[in-house]
Amino acid sequence: MKIIIIGGAGFIGVNTAQFFLNKQDENYEVIVYDNCSRPGSQDNIDWLTNNYQVKFEHGDIRNYEKLESFLQEHQDVDVIIHLAAQVAVTTSVKNPRMDFETNLSGTFNILEALRNNEMAPFLIYASTNKVYGPLEELPCKETDTRYEFTENVQGISETMNLDLYSPYGCSKGAADQYVRDYNRIYDIPAVVFRQSCIYGPHQYGFEDQGWIAWMIIASLLRRKITIYGTGKQVRDILYVSDLIKAYDQAIKNKDKCRGRIFNIGGGPDNSISLLEFIKSIEEINGTPVDYNHEDWRPGDQKIFISNNSRLLNEIGWFPQTSYTKGLQQAYNWIKDNLGSIRNYFAE
Ligand SMILES: NC(=O)c1ccc[n+]([C@@H]2O[C@H](COP(=O)([O-])OP(=O)(O)OC[C@H]3O[C@@H](n4cnc5c(N)ncnc54)[C@H](O)[C@@H]3O)[C@@H](O)[C@H]2O)c1
Repeated sequence: MKIIIIGGAGFIGVNTAQFFLNKQDENYEVIVYDNCSRPGSQDNIDWLTNNYQVKFEHGDIRNYEKLESFLQEHQDVDVIIHLAAQVAVTTSVKNPRMDFETNLSGTFNILEALRNNEMAPFLIYASTNKVYGPLEELPCKETDTRYEFTENVQGISETMNLDLYSPYGCSKGAADQYVRDYNRIYDIPAVVFRQSCIYGPHQYGFEDQGWIAWMIIASLLRRKITIYGTGKQVRDILYVSDLIKAYDQAIKNKDKCRGRIFNIGGGPDNSISLLEFIKSIEEINGTPVDYNHEDWRPGDQKIFISNNSRLLNEIGWFPQTSYTKGLQQAYNWIKDNLGSIRNYFAE
């Protein structure tokens, strides 16, 4: 089976490549396409190519000609996992054109390259829970450490209204709809995963994106963390290998999954507030974390907990890694690689 991972040098991408290349029972050929614009991506791809038989093509999804000729070379591809993106809300606010050209136009380029070349691999698109906006209409109460739903809300399901908020929300959300629609109109089999916060090894997290890794890195480097808002915001965090198992299950059930949209996150059992998360790191690290507060960021959700029922009912997926176990593994990877990670965090 031939798999192309677009954005495969990033955090989720490198873990995805490793997952398929580690499968002894099935024969996977993995090709990564990435422009390595994300700090840390070059380290990730160096690590991947040093440890696995993997092909790497340096390319930008904004460049249609280059992308099309790359895909034409791989007409026989079975699966494309599209993870390339401008990933930070803050960057999207500062530079909405770049965000648009990468996330929406770049995704459109992939779809058009497939349509123009009559290619129909199974396409997985990594969307985001940000497509649901700030969810202000959901009543919640404030406890000492977190926000909680006041009504019996079993997490956010795919039937929640879309409310594309921030340029990042708009570009990712519009691309999510294009992918869905190319499945309907042009018969390109595609599935959309609306992902909650993902964490794990190979995540070069910064204040603007990848907050779990960023907080671990900051605590190990003794940097001050800024919390935007009260810190009681709740997220259902999902360990990266669990996400990839869902991709794998979707590939195995592609006829059933094509055209579907799935919310995916750690669910209620793996929900944690920023303040609670800081406490967990303090316990692992044995030292206090220094932080201050600033104003809320635009569109920030007080609570996002994914309702994973559709994935459970349709392909039997559920999160398997508890956040205590996952957090320890993510922490260990960062600690072991702090020497190279440090280079991205010059004072
Ligand atoms: N990590 C999360 O918590 C999370 C949550 C929801 C959705 N997502 C989505 O999942 C996907 C992967 O996220 P990630 O955390 O691995 O991010 P990442 O930044 O680590 O990886 C993205 C990769 O895309 C590459 N890239 C960026 N612009 C490109 C371009 N124009 N052409 C080619 N490559 C380009 C980057 O170099 C990077 O390697 C993204 O689409 C993101 O929006 C991630």
